[in-house]
Amino acid sequence: MKKRNILVTGGLGYIGSHTCVELIKSGYEVSIIDNLVNSERFILDRIEKISGEKINFYEIDIKDLDETRSCFKNKNFDLVIHFAALKSVNESVIFPDRYYRNNIGSLENILKCIESEDVGGLVFSSSCTVYGQPDILPVTESSPLKKAESPYAETKQICEKIIKEFSTINTKPSISLRYFNPVGAHESGLIGELPRGVPDNLVPFITQTAIGKRDKLKVFGDDYNTKDGTPIRDYIHVVDLAEAHVSAVDRLINDETKDNYEFYNVGTGTGYSVLEVIKSFERINKIKLSYEIVGRREGDIESIYSDNKLSSKTLNWRAIRDLDQMMKSAWIWEKKFNESDS
Ligand code: UD1
Repeated sequence: MKKRNILVTGGLGYIGSHTCVELIKSGYEVSIIDNLVNSERFILDRIEKISGEKINFYEIDIKDLDETRSCFKNKNFDLVIHFAALKSVNESVIFPDRYYRNNIGSLENILKCIESEDVGGLVFSSSCTVYGQPDILPVTESSPLKKAESPYAETKQICEKIIKEFSTINTKPSISLRYFNPVGAHESGLIGELPRGVPDNLVPFITQTAIGKRDKLKVFGDDYNTKDGTPIRDYIHVVDLAEAHVSAVDRLINDETKDNYEFYNVGTGTGYSVLEVIKSFERINKIKLSYEIVGRREGDIESIYSDNKLSSKTLNWRAIRDLDQMMKSAWIWEKKFNESDS
């Protein structure tokens, strides 16, 4: 039987690259569009090395509708997974326009191509950030979407609304996956999180501190109303998250969706504090990390973690990798990357 062909936008990025590997492992053919604005071309070779398959790669900026449409022509993509987006919360506060134009504009172009080229549907890369600061934990899919805490968060809320409208009007079934905090790396150590410049996110900052690229990790606040005073997040291994995408693709391909638009939390269901993450990293990798407690970071929420019952049941998926595995794989990736880089 002919393999189903999945177009992955942003497929050379952190979550995109891991998802491509898992898609190929599950028997899908993968094509990638990426404009390399926040990713590296060598990741393509690495995905091919891990999976042993050749990938069709298009270096295109999706903001260019004509180029994007020409890439869709005659390819008969069965589905699109749309990752390509800007993702820095901090940057979005400084350049909100860039975030609205890029994240919403790109989605609109993808939807136009899905419609005109008769692609079957879409899996969208959303985020738990759509919930804002929730009143009740854990958050379920029926928790209200509170005020967005940043332009980045707002783009995710708006994109979800656009997709809901689109998939209902055009009967193109779509699934949004609301990720919690993806961390860790592929077991091969060949792909992982690759931030440009100083990392915003906790785990790359930890690994870069451990390798000596950064002096000290700053822990942003220990005066929150949590078990040890530091904020709580639902960290999820990026390979578990990639597997959730394959489950969503399977659901769409097998015509199992009950509604034209579905959305799921993708987290482990367990919240860990910043200090617990640091302790896990130190213990599993036998490293003493240099860190200090500083003031709170603007825009940070206190606690969020998922109720993942719906995704586990409906997508027939489970997060199986624990925090230690996340920290171990993140460290292997950092070390291996620096060996190959030097
Ligand atoms: C946020 C968004 C997430 C988005 C991600 C993209 C929420 C709830 N989550 O994640 O949807 O995909 O940004 O960037 O809005 N920390 C430190 N020191 C550091 C870095 C982080 O103490 O140097 C702490 C933060 O205060 C936070 C935790 O580590 O408590 C996790 O932070 P981070 O990795 O940046 O992710 P979020 O801000 O939770």
